[in-house]
Amino acid sequence: MSQIPYQHLLVDPLTGLELTQLLKLAPGVDCLLPNPHLALEHIATQWHMLSTKLTREIAEDEALLKHPQLHELMRERIQRQVRWQKKFHHQLQELFKNIPAHTKSAYFDKMLQGLGHTLPLTQPLIGHPKNIFRDWSWGAVENQRYLDVVRSRAVGEKKNILVIAAGAGRLAYDLHQHFQADVTFALDNSYFFAQSFQKICFGEGMELVEFPAPSLGDESLAHEHKLVAPSLAREGLVYHLGDLNYLPYKPESFDLIITPWIIDLIPSTLPFLISNISSLLKPQGQWINFGPYSLSADIPSRCRWSQKEIRGFIEEVELEDFEESWEQVEYLKSPHSSLIRQEQMWTFSATKLHSDGRGIQRPQLKESWLIHHDHAIPLSSKVQMSLMSHKVPARVFELIDGKRSLKDIAALMQQEFQMTQAEAQQALTHFLSRWAESG
Ligand SMILES: C[S@@+](CC[C@H](N)C(=O)[O-])C[C@H]1O[C@@H](n2cnc3c(N)ncnc32)[C@H](O)[C@@H]1O
Repeated sequence: MSQIPYQHLLVDPLTGLELTQLLKLAPGVDCLLPNPHLALEHIATQWHMLSTKLTREIAEDEALLKHPQLHELMRERIQRQVRWQKKFHHQLQELFKNIPAHTKSAYFDKMLQGLGHTLPLTQPLIGHPKNIFRDWSWGAVENQRYLDVVRSRAVGEKKNILVIAAGAGRLAYDLHQHFQADVTFALDNSYFFAQSFQKICFGEGMELVEFPAPSLGDESLAHEHKLVAPSLAREGLVYHLGDLNYLPYKPESFDLIITPWIIDLIPSTLPFLISNISSLLKPQGQWINFGPYSLSADIPSRCRWSQKEIRGFIEEVELEDFEESWEQVEYLKSPHSSLIRQEQMWTFSATKLHSDGRGIQRPQLKESWLIHHDHAIPLSSKVQMSLMSHKVPARVFELIDGKRSLKDIAALMQQEFQMTQAEAQQALTHFLSRWAESG
């Protein structure tokens, strides 16, 4: 724990009370997530799992290279791949070196040994990987577009700026430099981005391998980039590892709040975020949003807000002068990838005219036991369903003893789960074939 920079603008993310302690996860990485120690453990576990997965993949490829009948062209490709993977792994090891290697992840170790690659591994640790290359390597056109969007709508001085879901942080950096702000907070819940940002904006930069997907061709399977800010960031630019549902800021702290490419991803908490944005703005402060607004089909219908409803939420919290526009844009267009993503970008801005004295709302977590570790976990129907859906696969793996056939296991499953022999055999074949194909 150390002295807290910008303490006058910060609050405890969980309680909204004065912030008295700040956990630095690494030099320059201020953790304002609720329950930071748990977050650290979680990140360490994710890193442990990712590193284990990369090590295993490299070992599997190296074993393949020992195969005497491997086609020469395939050998060449796998050799190249191994070189890139090793480099990437090494770069991540360097990036995550501040994360303790020995965590309480023995439990995950066991799961890994037992289930191997069938676990949904580590995507969240390095979510949205393209964004870091767009921000700091090949995305000049896109980055300039976002800066221009904000510049064209911003009115007056912007001394205190907040970028919510800042990703790899380029926009926060550009705004901080452009507006000569006193303070710009970039808030995001990605440790990967937080740690990289520190190196890119305040250090010598970092090297990172991009694996473009889908790649343009044989020469584009991987690219190494040097990621570095155009110039050292001015003082006052700070990355906060935090959760937009637990905004760690005092009301009326900001002249400008930006939400880039995020609101469609968090529809269930959007009304609540809009209310908090209004509370966080100073009088005359502006909110500028841009990104797509196409909600995916798996979002429950009750939170598939129409644009009209969103405008309604904005009016309700007395944000005024609403202005909007739509344009079709290319998104995350890597020169090394054959994928060209077109998105309809919805830009709007609104202004808080008067002080309203409203506080920041914090979620009454349904899952309060995730934060308060002495709370009982309710035995809900979701738990029972999850239990069932884990019990069956777990039982299948337990029954594999090196001697039993699929038919033998189906016979045992038939008794245990009251299925017919045909049902058990069919389900087992389906499940095990997907497992076998999974890598
Ligand atoms: C589509 S990316 C956009 C990133 C960035 N705004 C950009 O345009 O490149 C969404 C971002 O939201 C962040 N995010 C998602 N849920 C979040 C949450 N609850 N709190 C903070 N950040 C979150 C992710 O880590 C990711 O960086």
